[in-house]
Amino acid sequence: MSFNIRIDGTEVIFKSEPGQSVLDAAEKHGLELPYSCRKGICGNCKGRVLAGQLRTGTGGGSHESGINAADEHLFCRAQAASDLLIAPRSWQRIDPSARKVLTATVFRNQRAASDVSMLHLRFPAGMRVKFKAGQYLQVVLPDGNRRSFSMANAPHESDSVQLHIRHMPNGGFTASTVPKLKPGDALRLEVPYGDFFLREDSERPLLFVAGGTGFAPIKSIIDHVIRRNIQRPMTLFWGVRNPGGLYAQDVVSRWLRQRPSLRYEPVISDPVELSAWSGRRGLVHEQVLECFQSVKDFDVYTSGAPVMVQAVRTTLQDLRDLPPNQFFSDSFVTETQNTA
Ligand code: FES
Repeated sequence: MSFNIRIDGTEVIFKSEPGQSVLDAAEKHGLELPYSCRKGICGNCKGRVLAGQLRTGTGGGSHESGINAADEHLFCRAQAASDLLIAPRSWQRIDPSARKVLTATVFRNQRAASDVSMLHLRFPAGMRVKFKAGQYLQVVLPDGNRRSFSMANAPHESDSVQLHIRHMPNGGFTASTVPKLKPGDALRLEVPYGDFFLREDSERPLLFVAGGTGFAPIKSIIDHVIRRNIQRPMTLFWGVRNPGGLYAQDVVSRWLRQRPSLRYEPVISDPVELSAWSGRRGLVHEQVLECFQSVKDFDVYTSGAPVMVQAVRTTLQDLRDLPPNQFFSDSFVTETQNTA
């Protein structure tokens, strides 16, 4: 049996079919609600159900995923068991002309760090793809499974795409396939996805917090800011395990030449010799806390593993006055979680 779902305060109503999550149902009807992992982990899809019932076992979520109240639910999990009235954190209509399925060709595959590949793909001749700085794409594998990766290039480079791929332990695609890809190899892609993108209607200073290859979407945003000559002050924290994980220092050096006011704070979490690293140490969210007494006037963009994103969210909201609507995040799940 299908049910009607209405977005509170609007006349927007969409149908949900049996077995469909609220998020999927909305998307099927051309509406995008906030999300990232789609696996019940990151909490980005959290919203409120103001009236109606959810199918047993699909409501709620953990405190780690940001669920604190009885009417809060993860819309990537929640399924309607009656008509619903919902209040997502935001929503927008999907631009149907923007999303494309295409076959891209590898033109460069660099080993950027011991466990990171930088993959450059070219779209078919003459094809341009519209996306927003910070969004991601999906690689469609021959067996139909999909892997999500953020695009690291800025939207004006619309004939190709750059991906930063960490080789996950036991990762069939990231560890076994990606390192062997060579120029000319083809990959099926669907692009673009996601609501992690620069809000250009704000003039607030930008605070970026990246963990590992969570640097990729933030690179896209900073390249875009510089290209568009957007004059918002920027601070970038980049947390990695060891100095080798800072795999794009050439990019950061270029930014510092183009935008000398950029504040850059790399952070190492592994215990490494003082001779190997004299900069900031520890967990990246702790270093942000140390540097800022308040971030209430900032827009914060965070990208990385769910545990890091959640730590940044809770500490800055609880201890540094960050309004929830000024926090934007992209959590990526591991390949194992992806196939779960
Ligand atoms: S928890 Fe639903 S999108 Fe991540």
